[in-house]
Amino acid sequence: MKIRTYGDPVLRRKAQMVTEITDELKKLIKDMFEVMHQNDGIGLAATQIGVEQRVIVTDAFDMPLVIINPEIVMRGGEEIAEEGCLSFPGIKASIKRAKDIMAKGLGENGEEIKLEVTGIPARVIQHEVDHLNGILIVDRMIPAERDTVKTLL
Ligand code: NI
Repeated sequence: MKIRTYGDPVLRRKAQMVTEITDELKKLIKDMFEVMHQNDGIGLAATQIGVEQRVIVTDAFDMPLVIINPEIVMRGGEEIAEEGCLSFPGIKASIKRAKDIMAKGLGENGEEIKLEVTGIPARVIQHEVDHLNGILIVDRMIPAERDTVKTLL
């Protein structure tokens, strides 16, 4: 399975809410972890493998985490840090994000989950939720950095 990279129109589409936990969804989650690991990523959104469903996976926590229909319900503080994205191979950019967030959604088996997160895991969740809304790191870069990066894309 291939990761969609910048320029692929699917990355700009808003993903759909998941309405049912199906075997197909479980297979999607398994595939997402596999692709993320193969590419040494710490987070992946379903849209990055061309599936327009609101599902994210991450390894930024102590254990593998899946969030279905993730929502950020609270944001606090601000932090600028260097960030990459599997859809922008070789590119790193300084991106400003909330430092602390509260997120909710469903776990792999449809159970409700609520997380209070800070630092890198909070950044990863914000990044992946952006993907589900068709927002990419290039949209969040400061203008000077965006200009430099555009010459590389
Ligand atoms: Ni990304």
